[in-house]
Amino acid sequence: MENKIFYFSVTGKSFWTALTLANELTNCDIIAMKDYDIDKPIFAQKIGFVFPVYYGGIPDTVKNFLSKIKIDGNPYLFSIHTYNNNDGITSLQIREKMISCETPINAVFPLKMTQRNSQHSYTDIFGENAILEMLRKTQTKITKIAKIISQEKDYLKRSFNLFKRHKSLAKKQHHIKEKLIVR
Ligand SMILES: Cc1cc2nc3c(=O)[nH]c(=O)nc-3n(C[C@H](O)[C@H](O)[C@H](O)COP(=O)(O)O)c2cc1C
Repeated sequence: MENKIFYFSVTGKSFWTALTLANELTNCDIIAMKDYDIDKPIFAQKIGFVFPVYYGGIPDTVKNFLSKIKIDGNPYLFSIHTYNNNDGITSLQIREKMISCETPINAVFPLKMTQRNSQHSYTDIFGENAILEMLRKTQTKITKIAKIISQEKDYLKRSFNLFKRHKSLAKKQHHIKEKLIVR
């Protein structure tokens, strides 16, 4: 059975990611979310969603797409979100979204694709080298991601960082309160 990757991309990073990943996985179709006939149930061994982070979360276009799709059978589901420096609550949102669609996701991969500031060398003046370096690094990460997906492993790590941050913040606030009470 074939694999399917659905992507949303405006400046091309998520599209490049989808292409590179499809190249590593065998028998893989890449489909733009906007081109898919939403009434057609999706049938595949593995189904992936690749998209950018907007304002610390899932872009509305992608949310809309995920709310409307129908998934056939019980495929392995994964998502990759590309971002610059802060992916906010995207990992959490995608998990919640898929649970609400009654199709829990198996793996969520945040993929940082930041270009190094390119002021230091003449050849970097148009950012070409910085882009190539970023793509080389990303290629290595995608190879690792492809391995996890090929073996259909669960990967939901990063979603808990948010809870941890909340927990430590709550702890700090508790200490401050205690100090105030002692005084
Ligand atoms: C409207 C908008 C909002 C964005 N918000 C974030 C953000 O909150 N955090 C972040 O790290 N990057 C943010 N970005 C950057 C994109 O997530 C990043 O460049 C992404 O890789 C672009 O993917 P694409 O080339 O497939 O469109 C934003 C970009 C746009 C256009």
